[in-house]
Amino acid sequence: MKRLDGKSALITGAARGIGKGFAEAYLREGATVAIGDIDMAAAEATAAELGEGAYAIHLDVTRQESIDAAIAGVVERAGKLDILVNNAAVFDAAETVDITRDSYDRLYAINVAGTLFTMQAAAKQMIAQGQGGKIINMASQAGRRGESLVLVYCSTKAAVISMTQSAGLNLIKHGINVNAIAPGVVDGEHWVHVDSMFAKLEGKPLGQKRREVEASVPAGRYAVPGDLSPMAVFLASSDSDYVVAQTYNVDGGQWMS
Ligand SMILES: NC(=O)c1ccc[n+]([C@@H]2O[C@H](COP(=O)([O-])OP(=O)(O)OC[C@H]3O[C@@H](n4cnc5c(N)ncnc54)[C@H](O)[C@@H]3O)[C@@H](O)[C@H]2O)c1
Repeated sequence: MKRLDGKSALITGAARGIGKGFAEAYLREGATVAIGDIDMAAAEATAAELGEGAYAIHLDVTRQESIDAAIAGVVERAGKLDILVNNAAVFDAAETVDITRDSYDRLYAINVAGTLFTMQAAAKQMIAQGQGGKIINMASQAGRRGESLVLVYCSTKAAVISMTQSAGLNLIKHGINVNAIAPGVVDGEHWVHVDSMFAKLEGKPLGQKRREVEASVPAGRYAVPGDLSPMAVFLASSDSDYVVAQTYNVDGGQWMS
């Protein structure tokens, strides 16, 4: 018996990176997994690569009709929704005096409103099913403490931690566990983008920020998605039924709270 046998999961932003890693782990544990992403071509390629049990769903978490259609699509395909991972997010960095309204609106629309309203739509479906459910939100070490050049992104991830607490307390009466994972630094395309932004902002050669950040991790290296997957499986499984409204650091020792 696998830990997620017969479960139906939706992972947002799962066409690549951490979400794709979680999809692989959930499939191994017996779930069917909807690869929800705004980049449908990439989602389809990922679903094909991951094989049986994986399928692509078009999803733009900034649009309510897209969220509702994605949840309906999962129910049509798998008959129900048991697990949601709110993973889609975007990053930006700037001097405080250079932050633009456009950047603020975009990050809050995807990272905060996207997380909230996808969580809400999934919770409505889970309540209607009457069997509880599991919601996992992707926070970050960036939500634990501000960073000089990362005001907006850090604040969106602090909001994810706070929303996880409130929704977790509110939804447990329906048997829905809402928890979050706060990764540190995870190798992938996201970090290529972050490194190039810091190269511009701090006047460093490409790759230097990456090396500096890696040296600061107590575990001595970047994470790979597989370092986070065991926590994502735990929070999606019945092993976490008594875990409510928590945010777990999986960050190689970066933070203690
Ligand atoms: N990589 C890290 O070092 C790191 C560290 C801490 C937290 N996180 C968090 O983990 C999660 C995954 O990070 P990642 O590095 O794998 O990200 P990534 O940038 O590699 O992938 C993000 C995915 O989200 C999709 N996406 C973007 N906008 C969307 C939208 N409006 N609707 C639906 N999908 C959309 C993208 O197409 C992409 O496939 C994010 O929440 C991120 O903030 C990442």
